[in-house]
Amino acid sequence: MAESSLTKFAYQALQQGKGLIGIAHKEISTKIMELIVPQAIPETSPVTPELLFELRKAIKDLEEIDWIEAENGFYPKSLLFEAPWFEWLKNYPLVWLDMPSTWKRRIKRKYQEIPIEINKEKYPEYYLQNFHHQTDGYLSDHSASLYDIQVEILFNGTADAMRRRVIAPLKKGINLNFSGTDTSNLKIMDLATGTGRTLQQLRAAFPKTELTGLDLSGAYLKQASRYLNNGESELVQLIQGNAEKTPLLKESFHAITCVFLFHELPNKARDNVIKECFRLLKSKGVLIIADSIQINDSSEFVQVLDNFHRIFHEPYYKDYIQDNIESKLSESGFTSIKSDKYFMTKVWSACKP
Ligand SMILES: C[S@@+](CC[C@H](N)C(=O)[O-])C[C@H]1O[C@@H](n2cnc3c(N)ncnc32)[C@H](O)[C@@H]1O
Repeated sequence: MAESSLTKFAYQALQQGKGLIGIAHKEISTKIMELIVPQAIPETSPVTPELLFELRKAIKDLEEIDWIEAENGFYPKSLLFEAPWFEWLKNYPLVWLDMPSTWKRRIKRKYQEIPIEINKEKYPEYYLQNFHHQTDGYLSDHSASLYDIQVEILFNGTADAMRRRVIAPLKKGINLNFSGTDTSNLKIMDLATGTGRTLQQLRAAFPKTELTGLDLSGAYLKQASRYLNNGESELVQLIQGNAEKTPLLKESFHAITCVFLFHELPNKARDNVIKECFRLLKSKGVLIIADSIQINDSSEFVQVLDNFHRIFHEPYYKDYIQDNIESKLSESGFTSIKSDKYFMTKVWSACKP
């Protein structure tokens, strides 16, 4: 009991530390922008004390459920402390060095600065952009080395806690629909896996399961491979491809997760990804999608959603936050559709009949 309280305290302290670093980073970078490039500062509505209170409360609630689900055995408590800390520390100065080029892009409204050596025919047109002003878009090792730290800073250290929210509905769905199947015979796919942070969480929760990750970015997949396939744990398979139309056989997976992809897709592509998930899942297969909360989810946070697409280049976000994902899921044939919210993330779960 005493040991558990101590671990919880350590977890809360770690989260608080990450939160403070995120806030300090954003405050310092805004001050520098005010001094050097005031024209790069986006017009946003100010965060009121009431909103700040609600945000802090939502983060506390997220941390509480993150702790409770670890205590309930959905994943090991050690996962709450896991991250490539040394890599992140080593790469953190690069985030600062990269900033002037993101300011320039913001001022000049240049959102299609992709490395010239990239064969554009291999990617859908909507993908060839600097989402959130990311240097090289998703298409370089440089971008891949900064991405995780930038997301941690953006969400004040809560990114992995939000990603972990896919684990409980995933385990519950699998236990219900595939109760007789040994976990080593299960196949789970993480679509748009990026640098593999969700796969990292899944690997801890499903140590023996066959895990596959798919993404359009070869550079991000290389980064994922470095993090995932370097120890004693089972090999994770990584595939470069489009989540709208994968090169994989139908009914290949017992479950699919997809985290933080949908807000970066045009409406039609969101439709296609859901249909592709339906095709890839076995009968009774489980789909878990996690992405930004939407406009109707929280009247308090509407302003945060509005500020988000003013600050970052997120061309499909406005459409996404108004999209009816539930009806897309049911039109594609999914049933048992449910959703829950955790801080800035909404998690949908659905089953293939
Ligand atoms: C915001 S990142 C999320 C990455 C990861 N799931 C996470 O939680 O950090 C979006 C990812 O989606 C990938 N992506 C975007 N469109 C895609 C598509 N049509 N097919 C496959 N991957 C795609 C990008 O390369 C990028 O890695």
